[in-house]
Amino acid sequence: MIKILITGNTGQLGKSLIDIKPDNCEIITPNKNELDLSNSKQCRNIINEIKPDWLINCAAFTNVDAAEIKKDLTMKINANAPNIFAKSMKEQGGGLIQISSDYVFDGHKRNQPYKVNEKRNPLNTYGYSKFKAEESIQDILGGTKKGIILRTSWLISPYGKNFIFKMLRLFNQKNTIQVVADQIGCPTSTFGLSELCWRIVNLKNQDLIFKNNKNGVLHWSDEGQTSWFEFAKTIRDLSQEIGLLDKKIELIPIKSSAYKTTAKRPFYSVLDCENTKNIFNISGVFWKKNLKDILQKILLNRNSHHL
Ligand SMILES: NC(=O)c1ccc[n+]([C@@H]2O[C@H](COP(=O)([O-])OP(=O)(O)OC[C@H]3O[C@@H](n4cnc5c(N)ncnc54)[C@H](OP(=O)(O)O)[C@@H]3O)[C@@H](O)[C@H]2O)c1
Repeated sequence: MIKILITGNTGQLGKSLIDIKPDNCEIITPNKNELDLSNSKQCRNIINEIKPDWLINCAAFTNVDAAEIKKDLTMKINANAPNIFAKSMKEQGGGLIQISSDYVFDGHKRNQPYKVNEKRNPLNTYGYSKFKAEESIQDILGGTKKGIILRTSWLISPYGKNFIFKMLRLFNQKNTIQVVADQIGCPTSTFGLSELCWRIVNLKNQDLIFKNNKNGVLHWSDEGQTSWFEFAKTIRDLSQEIGLLDKKIELIPIKSSAYKTTAKRPFYSVLDCENTKNIFNISGVFWKKNLKDILQKILLNRNSHHL
């Protein structure tokens, strides 16, 4: 049995990882009371006690706007905890998969997907905290082939907080909704991302990950790209198609400059996932297909989501 410690078991990725756990893995999934990432001592102790073969660090302070207000807490959870995890895993000898974000990039490229080793230049506190975590892991575990940074984007799932639920709740409350149309990224199913995490853990030859890419960075998003506006339109249309929405909703595209948020966001943050596909010999699924599957799961549980 491979022993895996998973943080963030109540989050959308944590839940999806648990849902599709392979039979050859034993998972330990502490909740926030048992392991608080803002508590350095707890982060150190849990690794020393459990001595996992792998740590998949999914926990994070993920509210991008609130991170601007709670900067210290964001840095503790998103940057300091991964630093301690990397040091402790180095002592214990296991591998670390750190889930990172497209928001480590500034989005100035506009139309060319980001490759794994491109310059990071985060625009907000959340992105900066994820960048500092990446730096620590590369510094501490660099050369050991045990530190993997897995960047992803715009996560969606039938669980918790994400853009799908935000839109479905707005559809219930309003008839006309304005949505930002000048930020481009790619929605990504937590199930596809979870499958990749389990593939990493079960990869016989870990050297393959570091072969063309000594920093151990992998990118994973679903296929395609879109704006928040087109994403919202697709949620509306597919929800109508499957019977999750039965009223007319008008969506109006607006510019980011017309929708003030506390945190600045990149205009373009599409990730180039070719390297990951080649290493694992896999292909991606178009984001609209995964979105439809997730909406169907939400439909089955619509009462528990109060929709
Ligand atoms: N969501 C996205 O669009 C997106 C995009 C790119 C990358 N990512 C990255 O992907 C990973 C998974 O994201 P997600 O969407 O699954 O996140 P999520 O649904 O917001 O879940 C975050 C998890 O972290 C836990 N957590 C927060 N503060 C904690 C603390 N102090 N100690 C212990 N646990 C704590 C939460 O526990 P509670 O529920 O108890 O608070 C929850 O289980 C994160 O690393 C995130 O940065 C996310």
